[in-house]
Amino acid sequence: MSEIIYDRYTEAVAAWRRDPEGWWARAAEGISWDRPWERVFDPERGAYGQWYAGGQLNTAYNCLDRHVEAGRGSQAALIWDSPLAGRQVRFTYSELRDRVARLAGALAGLGVGHGDRVVIYMPMVPEAAIAMLACARLGAVHSVVFGGFGAPELASRIADAAPKVVISASCGLEPGRIVAYKPLLDAAIALSPHKPDACLILQRPALRAEFVAGRDHDFEAVEAAAAPHAPVPIPATDPLYILFTSGTTGRPKGIVRDAGGHAVALMQSMRMIYGVDAGDVFWAASDVGWVVGHSYIVYAPLLAGCTTIMYEGKPVGTPDAGAFWRVAAEHRVRVLFTAPTAIRAIKQQDPDAAQMRRYDMSRLEALFLAGERCDPPTAIWAAEQLGKPVVDHWWQTETGWPITAGFRGFGLTAPKPGAGGRPSPGYDVQALDDSGQVLPRGQSGNLAIRLPLPPGCAPTLWQNEEGFRTAYLADFPGWYRTGDAGVIDADGDVWVMGRTDDIINVAGHRLSTGAMEEVLAAHQDVAECAVVGAKDALKGQTPLGLVVLKTGVNRPPEDITAELVALVRERIGPVAAFKEARIVPRLPKTRSGKILRASIRRLADGEPPNPPPTIDDPAALDEVRAAIADRLPGTDRGA
Ligand code: COA
Ligand code: AMP
Repeated sequence: MSEIIYDRYTEAVAAWRRDPEGWWARAAEGISWDRPWERVFDPERGAYGQWYAGGQLNTAYNCLDRHVEAGRGSQAALIWDSPLAGRQVRFTYSELRDRVARLAGALAGLGVGHGDRVVIYMPMVPEAAIAMLACARLGAVHSVVFGGFGAPELASRIADAAPKVVISASCGLEPGRIVAYKPLLDAAIALSPHKPDACLILQRPALRAEFVAGRDHDFEAVEAAAAPHAPVPIPATDPLYILFTSGTTGRPKGIVRDAGGHAVALMQSMRMIYGVDAGDVFWAASDVGWVVGHSYIVYAPLLAGCTTIMYEGKPVGTPDAGAFWRVAAEHRVRVLFTAPTAIRAIKQQDPDAAQMRRYDMSRLEALFLAGERCDPPTAIWAAEQLGKPVVDHWWQTETGWPITAGFRGFGLTAPKPGAGGRPSPGYDVQALDDSGQVLPRGQSGNLAIRLPLPPGCAPTLWQNEEGFRTAYLADFPGWYRTGDAGVIDADGDVWVMGRTDDIINVAGHRLSTGAMEEVLAAHQDVAECAVVGAKDALKGQTPLGLVVLKTGVNRPPEDITAELVALVRERIGPVAAFKEARIVPRLPKTRSGKILRASIRRLADGEPPNPPPTIDDPAALDEVRAAIADRLPGTDRGA
């Protein structure tokens, strides 16, 4: 049996390797095109070539209208389940299409057309998906900003994307508090050198927003008054959206997603990886502000004719650790996708899975995990309690769909807890040494993908092709550098072990320690600082800041550290979960002045710091150890 399963995956990879363009041409048949492509892949275009050049399509048409035309109009397209709002709403494909078409009409009325940008800053409400799809219908480019980011982060994205319109809501709902979005939006627009012509604001009952006369409009009123707009076919190589994500500098990178490759790759991934089809219920318990939300809450399930679930709640506390199982059972979810941190939170509160047993989980067939590496104990716990395959799969905002996975479509699921599965057909993944040589199986190195990247992956950065080349293509010519380190074992399973840069994953949220360092450095009393990601039992990693104060500062240290925590929360947002800053007399450095962040991180994790021989003064490491002693493993706080 396992041989047969293995063969189907191997055959698919071999078919793709034999004829990549033929493989991707066949995959593209799953999409409705307004004009067929001239070349499946044009190596002359862009940073490494582009897919489906010459073709034209409309992604929203592919997500909605064609399913209505095929007789799925009365099937549920999207179910909104919000324990925080105490509401559930079900939209059929016809209803969703009609709302999207009207909102597209409203946006067109505000001057938005093909190629114009629209920033969407919304909580997990159905209008967020409607807004994304309305942009797609017009050929406008959306840029969704996660609601947990603060005003300055939103401002930098508004400045970069230069949107004609911003779509937002009066508030978001977090357990125990209402997050007023509108004041954050107003502050962001004030900070941004670019000002949008108009804002559409969804008034939520929990908190109504004040409008700026002439600029702000009521989302529902404008939508209700608009005439439906037809889908606008756009070139396959044009951007569908931009999604800003943390890079190695403080400035986020605008990942561009081109329309054609995205539709093809996502459509194909639903059957090949997740093993679901039209009519199935698929639930990605993430947020539309992240790539997982873009790909697997909104676009992929709708492209495939599935029912997607949009959940405004948490894995625990809304109201209990049975929340995910309740949603899965109630809506007959076939495949669930979430971040390992969510499962850790559930396991922590309900170790015997008593809450799970309250629900009928018989329809659930598999649990997929991504966002960070799933630690084996969590994967094993979930697999044992659910009695279903638990599939860790590895991907990034840049790729838009899984680089490695288990493939339910081939009958293959990832059996090894801790591994990320095998490369998806389309990705030639190798571990490289620092000089770019391919390493033998079993040796750990820089994980890289041989160019070209498959359809669906970012062709460039927003208005920054040079930045794209520098960030991803320059280090290893002919390869895309993932920024992750790992090892490929003898079976071909890929083990992703961590980042090679300053990106950290906090509860599955990708954040830059560099950006946090910029915030700390801006504090009046701080001379120098370093932020590292320290291990955290629930969130995987949490940031830890070390600061050196300017000479002569003699204010109470606890006042300064409290200000630093507040500053990161205000400038980056609560999602950074920056709760710890420590003052040290100096930072450990090399003789050439480079801060030894890796040694600091190892110290914070309770490991030997292994400083390089070029360390300037090893005593500086002892000072760091003393400053963080109370949070080290083995102490009350660090245990
Ligand atoms: N708008 C405003 N604030 C938000 C927000 C949003 N959309 N999302 C999160 N926040 C806030 C939270 O309220 C919290 O604020 P607090 O410091 O005042 O408590 C902070 O940001 C951190 O949020 P979160 O990361 O959600 O942590 P948590 O402590 O509230 O909950 C978990 C812990 C594990 C339950 C939670 O992190 C979780 O479910 N994570 C899943 C992550 C995920 O889906 N990632 C997507 C990748 S697939
Ligand atoms: P994001 O762009 O927010 O999706 O974050 C991408 C990064 O998260 C990757 O580069 C990895 O560092 C990490 N990541 C995502 N999924 C996994 C996984 N399954 N295993 C290991 N790391 C992962």
